[in-house]
Amino acid sequence: MRLKIFSVFLLAAIAISGHSQNELITNIAARKTFSLDGKWQYIIDPYETGFTDYRFKERSEKDAEAYWNTDIPANRSDRKEHGFIAKYSLNVPGDWNSQDAKFLYYEGTVWYRKLFNYKKSNASNHLYLYFGAVNYKADVYLNGHKLGQHKGGFTAFNFEVPDSILKEENNNLVVKVDNKRYADEVPALNTDWWNYGGITRTVQLIELPQNFIQDYSLQLASSGQTIKGWVKLNSFTPNEKITIEIPELKIKKIINAENAISNFSINISSIQRWSPEDPKLYNVVISTASNLIREKIGFRNIEIKGTQVMLNGKPIFMRGISIHAEVPQEVRRSYSKADAEMLLGWAKELNCNMVRLAHYPHDENMVRVADSLGILVWSEIPVYWTIDFKNADVLAKAKSQLSEMITRDHNRASIIIWSVGNETPVNETRNNFMHSLLSTAKLMDSSRIISAALEVNYASANAIKTIDDPLGKYVDMVSFNEYLGWYTGLPSDITKTTFNTIYNKPLFISETGAEALSGFKADSLTRFSEEYQTWFYKEQIAMLRNMPENFVGICPWILADFRSPRRNNPTYQEGWNNKGLIDQHGKKKPAFFVLQSYYAEMKQKFETQNN
Ligand code: GCU
Repeated sequence: MRLKIFSVFLLAAIAISGHSQNELITNIAARKTFSLDGKWQYIIDPYETGFTDYRFKERSEKDAEAYWNTDIPANRSDRKEHGFIAKYSLNVPGDWNSQDAKFLYYEGTVWYRKLFNYKKSNASNHLYLYFGAVNYKADVYLNGHKLGQHKGGFTAFNFEVPDSILKEENNNLVVKVDNKRYADEVPALNTDWWNYGGITRTVQLIELPQNFIQDYSLQLASSGQTIKGWVKLNSFTPNEKITIEIPELKIKKIINAENAISNFSINISSIQRWSPEDPKLYNVVISTASNLIREKIGFRNIEIKGTQVMLNGKPIFMRGISIHAEVPQEVRRSYSKADAEMLLGWAKELNCNMVRLAHYPHDENMVRVADSLGILVWSEIPVYWTIDFKNADVLAKAKSQLSEMITRDHNRASIIIWSVGNETPVNETRNNFMHSLLSTAKLMDSSRIISAALEVNYASANAIKTIDDPLGKYVDMVSFNEYLGWYTGLPSDITKTTFNTIYNKPLFISETGAEALSGFKADSLTRFSEEYQTWFYKEQIAMLRNMPENFVGICPWILADFRSPRRNNPTYQEGWNNKGLIDQHGKKKPAFFVLQSYYAEMKQKFETQNN
């Protein structure tokens, strides 16, 4: 049932927001792929010359001057005013900002081109062109024909490649990438992160048989005695068999393919549940007559009981840290397994059992490495700050990104929270918009905690600040960001305050933090010094000890310093937000060790309590 819902939402959202990609193919690492990563040639096109004529009218598909059409002159007199040559190349995957100084602040269109040869191994197979992510808008053309358009800078998408377009040699793949910001996009105009543009994640050709496994789900029922799931085929022949195997559990379940979605339920006698202490992953094999997929899945139960978050039946305290998808030492978008291992390795060193992947879905390596390291994950869509909440198309775009995020990652044990937004301003239009998103997320995946970073009501005169954001009615966990001692007052003011909520739900601090320019030493009252940040964390931790019973964790802002066009103090920021506990060279600041020690204490406390 659940899958039907999110397919419906995905198709509806695609229709409204004008996307034309095909349903997302999941677990591409397990498919037959041909990588298109590597050097792509580019043209910078701030005036959209490749897309519009001198009257600024969109060019017709056959227009010889369109940048998606050949750049090879028909003869020596033929006029060509565009072209792709090796001299102008960019690495894919990768943002353009970090690859050449001329791109650092660039916001506009860059045309990418890749020539490739490809012969399908079986003529009747399907061929898909898959993008891990393109920020922000991608228009994709192959051999002069438009395959489709995708909007959204942090989610995967794919287009089917018709046989009529594919050639065995010299396929001319052209992608128009536009990272300009707009008030009616998601995110909108204003973000506290760098607007890295480009084909920022992997590009793969995926060859699949006529009938293939589109998607699947395996989850441990709350009883712990059953694995429930479903398998979705793109198409199937009546009475086609689907086999689900978990060899280590001696499971081999054979079911008949019914409709597009075939449900199954497997009774089990015992299972090693996935957890941060024991991130057990099982090898799973799903197969039909023509397609076989291997997957590693962790089985665990996550639920809310009263005001506690329960993992495998035991209350947990989330020792989190927020992370941007950025490699600080190289000032670039993260995208590789090595990037994920470095960032999540730092979180493990900090004694974290949880990370908040802010403020957008990170690349698939991050959530797969979190599965293997045993780190709980908060994953979110960039409905950030001030979105055009009155615009139905914007809601459709947000739902499309929500569906793409959940479709790609719904088998990841590490992900326990889907978040639909961050610090959006309380008003009726926004409440309705966000309520719709929260309801949609719950419909798409009722097995996880649904939340968002809500607003604090600071108006209350007394020392206890309340979270009474109307969205608190609809979230499973009341999460909020607080910056006592940084944006309001000094660290000495922090312990004069604490927080609660009017909702009888778990309470989670999804952000708090203070800046320190690494190596800047002064007295603790000096803003931007390491001593100020250290003092801030000591006072925050003291305040946490007064939080109410339903306080279930915290996710300070942020693991590492990151680029932001909004941070322009010429001495202490220079285009960086320095709230990181680790600096832009990978060096830990003194505050890192203050939080690390608190987390060691909380780890010990909960292990003692639970055993
Ligand atoms: C906000 C926001 C972050 C931002 C941070 C800050 O809460 O969610 O994206 O970077 O505070 O001000 O540093």
